[in-house]
Amino acid sequence: MVGEVLSTLQVNPSGSYVDCTLGEGGHASAILSATDPPPRLLGIDLDLEALESATGRLGEFSRSFVAEQGNFANVRDIARRHGFEPADGILFDLGLSSLQVDTAARGFSFRKEARLDMRFDTSQMLSAAEVVNGFPESELADVIYRYGEERRSRRIASAIVRNRPLDTTTQLAEVISRVLGGPSGRRIHPATKTFQAIRMAVNGELDNVEKGLDQAIEVLREGGRIVVISYHSLEDRLVKGVLRRGASRCICPPEIPMCVCGHEPALRLVSRRVIRPGQEEIRMNPRSRSARLRVAERI
Ligand SMILES: C[S@@+](CC[C@H](N)C(=O)[O-])C[C@H]1O[C@@H](n2cnc3c(N)ncnc32)[C@H](O)[C@@H]1O
Repeated sequence: MVGEVLSTLQVNPSGSYVDCTLGEGGHASAILSATDPPPRLLGIDLDLEALESATGRLGEFSRSFVAEQGNFANVRDIARRHGFEPADGILFDLGLSSLQVDTAARGFSFRKEARLDMRFDTSQMLSAAEVVNGFPESELADVIYRYGEERRSRRIASAIVRNRPLDTTTQLAEVISRVLGGPSGRRIHPATKTFQAIRMAVNGELDNVEKGLDQAIEVLREGGRIVVISYHSLEDRLVKGVLRRGASRCICPPEIPMCVCGHEPALRLVSRRVIRPGQEEIRMNPRSRSARLRVAERI
């Protein structure tokens, strides 16, 4: 959604921007190329391989661009350290990159044989192998239910525990297929939701998103914009909640008859409705079909 990102961020050449999910640098490259001279851009990613690949790709912008391996849950400190506070725009393009899905050895894909891994930051201790082979059955079922929105989480967790140890992505996918029935033509692969859930648990994704968004709102200058792209309903619901709360005059629980919170809104929702990719983009890049973009402005 490069066009939508550029139009909602309103890039200007004297502005400072933070790309919290640098990935392979696609959006970063578009932001840096949007004006002449380019704006200043700070890129953050947990994945060192992605960071190095993006830094190579953006070599021509070395005077305007700086990158750091880090967690966007710490965006306030990272932005401050590099002189990007206050920022004119902050982008989050959540989830995982094409490079990560397509690199078999990273263990994100049930279609590619690899050791169970799924870490964005490969120096982190917790990997998918520990979640799959080490979590108690009830905790595993909770992860699959909560992060995968998978109704049959208990049956899947029980089958995983019975088949332990599981070493590879394809072994895990086979166990799930045996419980839910194998992949068939038009349905999504039966392992999709469980793989999403395990990845989210390994990387603490929802916690990071909540912390990252809260901090990003503080880092923005007045009139600066936060743009967030998410790829599934759980993530989008969280993003919508954080932005709505930021734009709200009152955050008291609904059962309280009179407002006592004294909450001051920090945001204005630029578009109340979610922005979706156009048909042409979905045709060119089918992975974009589930993308949902939300944008808000600091007041
Ligand atoms: C969808 S990709 C971004 C793609 C990028 N916008 C591009 O155009 O190439 C998401 C990226 O966010 C990174 N990521 C996920 N959680 C993160 C976090 N908490 N902090 C920093 N980076 C994170 C992933 O490693 C991945 O590279």
